[in-house]
Amino acid sequence: MARRRQLYEGKAKVLFEGPEPGTLVQYFKDDATAGNGAKSGIITGKGVLNNRISEYLMLKLHDINIPTHFIRRLNMREQLIREVEIIPLEVVVRNVAAGSLSKRLGIPEGTRLPRTIIEYYYKNDALNDPMVSEEHIAAFNWAAPQDMDDINQLALRTNDFLMGMFTAVGITLVDFKLEFGRIWEGEEMRILLADEISPDNCRLWDSKTNEKMDKDRFRRDMGRVEEAYQEVAKRLGILPESGNGDLKGPEAVQ
Ligand code: TMP
Repeated sequence: MARRRQLYEGKAKVLFEGPEPGTLVQYFKDDATAGNGAKSGIITGKGVLNNRISEYLMLKLHDINIPTHFIRRLNMREQLIREVEIIPLEVVVRNVAAGSLSKRLGIPEGTRLPRTIIEYYYKNDALNDPMVSEEHIAAFNWAAPQDMDDINQLALRTNDFLMGMFTAVGITLVDFKLEFGRIWEGEEMRILLADEISPDNCRLWDSKTNEKMDKDRFRRDMGRVEEAYQEVAKRLGILPESGNGDLKGPEAVQ
């Protein structure tokens, strides 16, 4: 890690200068935080699993023409990504009530929502990432209305695709958080899916038992956090059933 210039250290990841201009190396840590840093700990092996899971999902999204920052995985904990200007929003997509939505609106966790809901939060630790509307986003120029059209469309397409993929392996995609960034190609600006998609920023429940297979196990002190992340990777066919082995495809669940 010492070879490269560190540009940014977040709660779960570190960004280093990449080998070519316009690229970065994204390093996945085992560190976990919740409640904007109020709770912190280590989930052994989380970084390795999230690197693999995010690689897998970003490549699948690329296959259906969703532009992402992902270029290639470099090693167990690092991936090469395109350098983007991060749009300061957390875009949350919800299919089933849980977490802050359940708390705020008094809807029991597990209630299927009448339609998919997109929410936006302004990325600002000092303010605890407050929820904002498209009015705030336009007024404060965090993203133009045209950018928000692209972001909403990408978020919904991502949701449709991931929901199908997880359903096929016996997992309900309850909700997830996305981040987007901008790149310029000559005069043209394009919006890309950035950050990561992993059990750190998705709620994933076993379809049959509703058992949680995501970071809520850490947030709520439920234990067996790494095992849950491993199970997600296994079901997606990323991790061999035991030890080292060749990668195989996802397992369909009846
Ligand atoms: P919430 O119910 O706490 O608002 O979370 C909704 C989804 O967004 C859930 O899958 C967890 C994810 N999330 C993050 O990845 N980072 C965050 O800072 C927050 C608040 C939520």
